[in-house]
Amino acid sequence: MPHAPFGSCLPSTPRAFTRRLAAGAALSALMIGGALMIGGVLTSPAHAQIALEAEMSARATAAAVPPTPSVPGPWMNTKLSPDERARLLESQLTLDERIGMLHGIMALPYKIEGLPDGVVWSAGYIPGVPRLGIPALRETDASLGVATPHRLRPDGATGLPAGLAIAATWSPELAYQGGAMVGDEATRKGFNVLLGGGVNLTREARNGRNFEYLGEDPLLAGTLAGQAIRGTQDQHIVATVKHFAINSQESSRRAVSAVIDEAPLRESDLLAFQFAIEAGKPGSVMCSYNRVNGPWACDSDFLLNKVLKGDWAYPGWVMSDWGATPALSAVTNGLDQQSGEQIDKEVFFDKPLKAAVEGGQIPAARVSDMVRRILRSLFATGVFDVKAPTGPIDFQAHADITRTVAEQGIVLLKNRGDVLPFAKGKRIAVIGGLADVGVLSGGGSSQVLAADGPNHDYKNGAFVHIGGTGELVHISDAIYQPDAPLKAIEDKAGKDNVFFADGRYVSESVAAAKDADIAIVFATQWNIEGQDVPDLSLPQGQDAVIAAVAAANPNTIVVLETGGPVAMPWLDKVAGVVEAWYPGTRGGQAIANVLFGDVNPSGHLPITFPKDESQLPSPVLAGFYERDRTKLIDAHYPEKSDVGYRWYAAKGLTPLFPFGYGLSYTTFAQGGLKASAGTKAGEAMKISFTVSNTGKRAGQDVGQVYLVSGPQGNRTRLLGFGRVDLKSGEKKTVSVSVDPRLLADFDAQAHEWKVAAGSYTVALGSDALSLGEKQTVTLKAQTLKP
Ligand code: BGC
Repeated sequence: MPHAPFGSCLPSTPRAFTRRLAAGAALSALMIGGALMIGGVLTSPAHAQIALEAEMSARATAAAVPPTPSVPGPWMNTKLSPDERARLLESQLTLDERIGMLHGIMALPYKIEGLPDGVVWSAGYIPGVPRLGIPALRETDASLGVATPHRLRPDGATGLPAGLAIAATWSPELAYQGGAMVGDEATRKGFNVLLGGGVNLTREARNGRNFEYLGEDPLLAGTLAGQAIRGTQDQHIVATVKHFAINSQESSRRAVSAVIDEAPLRESDLLAFQFAIEAGKPGSVMCSYNRVNGPWACDSDFLLNKVLKGDWAYPGWVMSDWGATPALSAVTNGLDQQSGEQIDKEVFFDKPLKAAVEGGQIPAARVSDMVRRILRSLFATGVFDVKAPTGPIDFQAHADITRTVAEQGIVLLKNRGDVLPFAKGKRIAVIGGLADVGVLSGGGSSQVLAADGPNHDYKNGAFVHIGGTGELVHISDAIYQPDAPLKAIEDKAGKDNVFFADGRYVSESVAAAKDADIAIVFATQWNIEGQDVPDLSLPQGQDAVIAAVAAANPNTIVVLETGGPVAMPWLDKVAGVVEAWYPGTRGGQAIANVLFGDVNPSGHLPITFPKDESQLPSPVLAGFYERDRTKLIDAHYPEKSDVGYRWYAAKGLTPLFPFGYGLSYTTFAQGGLKASAGTKAGEAMKISFTVSNTGKRAGQDVGQVYLVSGPQGNRTRLLGFGRVDLKSGEKKTVSVSVDPRLLADFDAQAHEWKVAAGSYTVALGSDALSLGEKQTVTLKAQTLKP
């Protein structure tokens, strides 16, 4: 299939960039939809550009749309509970009004003739009920910043680093700040529903969306997702935890069934959601595209009714992923809202639902429940009561947040002979990775286009068409955010000491490396929603460039910008490796700050880096080479609940880099482990330990404590962690309260968690493999509700 000719673009002004963008987006949309409809008219590319620009300004931001005035009524009494207020308001609605709130469009000119007035191009739109002051739901993606869907809106936003970078900080505080930042930008742009908090576990190392999520451990991922959601909702916008559940791969994502028993599911992927929901109380949950043990996740009585609304008593609403509503039966099976309806076979939640209510097949009470859940979340998050902020976005403050997250999420993986941080006065060759242009970001619905000016104009970056076969690949090229590492390095080392080779040719890269004291190779792996990667190699021959550069210069440092783990066949040859993930709008500066020691690296891996595919639980990714993406396939999980490091521990495998790993420019010692049985409800054990900075520089460490064995035998599970900031010579105590579910097994027959009586041995760890001091605690048997 031909592709729109807007591959690499470096226009001179933001305006030109926007124009080019519009043309590119129009052409792309023409290709994916078969037609780009502007006002319902199929346009030629030239006309599309002009029409699109006009439409773009008309549909710029929701903030331009006047807010729905509230209507006095007893439901506006803030002394009443959100449930009571929702009940009062819902009782005023007609059946048509109720049904109108239960389905919505993907708010883009795609497979739709003309969008309703006031609809802003974004992820989704559901009309409100103005006569009762119920606002329209204006939905935007997502976890890494306010996204610019299909590049159609002209306003940019602050881009956070990848979810994996956020997770690598192991900092609930930074996760909160990131969530709050995105929530603030989204509300100032006029949105009231954010489709972020992604918390799917990294079960499949090649999953193309791993970069959006928070790693492989339920405690780490669930805790950070919960804090990000809290941060977002404190800005009075609904946050959405997604994609529920076990959406572990993108290959055949609308057809694959995750085949897994209930107990391992509860102990892993569902536990991450449970922690996130308990801590963050998101107003909505998005069910996923895939199937789970047969039924579609959005039509799964087990997931939605039994687990989420039953066992967890979740009070908010379940929205479908876009075009993931398979049938009207989903109403009965727990789905409350059909999203992205034009992509579905039918708008089941409109006329068919009305007919089923009128015919008595679906009780009217269920429809009321669906609506009440939505209203309850709007009341609970303050959408009805708190006026959205209207002032300009504080891009400077937000740049500091995204830079700090990037700095603290960068993981130093190797530092032979303390080659890092760089000494002053060295000649540096910077090679590859478009380091002269920007830093890579991940593609798909979460894509943020970076802006940092009062007009939210995009800044110069680069769009590079890479290609592939995934669902979204035709509309989203690899986007480099405009904070070039090369410039940041030049600013620190002096322009005359730095030279660049683009890395396309091995010979030129080697020549540059030979000429320098230090060679930094930037290596990238672009990932996008809708497509997994076939293997763990760096694409496009970058492994060969790194090996050749390392042979030419002993001081070779590799800076990785990847969306997941990669194999490193050249690891022994290079002096240093820095995993920078997709580092966000201020990624270039963050990388330079770490390389030059202005920031002491402190990120720790939230995922295991395997040596190669043979170490993965499923060496072959189900459905990767399946061309018919509608063909129903199964994905099996031999690792069961032992996702990530737990698989490696159970199989006695030594990965390339373990979960929890990360170096610093100083040294730390952990000790003084004290563990005892818990004293409070919901606390199985109390653990404390100290972390000391035994080196010469200030730095931050992440103290980790793992279960290593229990009455059932050896098992490795992260029980708690604490990030500490320590001056040279300083020592701090970390205290952890262990959630009993981390020690328990889920008993599906008895429908409860069971902590077995007996001895539990816990250990301090600088990562999941390097365990230090141990202690054994005897616990009584305990059961807990599911
Ligand atoms: C993605 C969701 C996203 C939605 C709306 C879907 O393709 O899976 O994560 O929120 O689109 O853009």
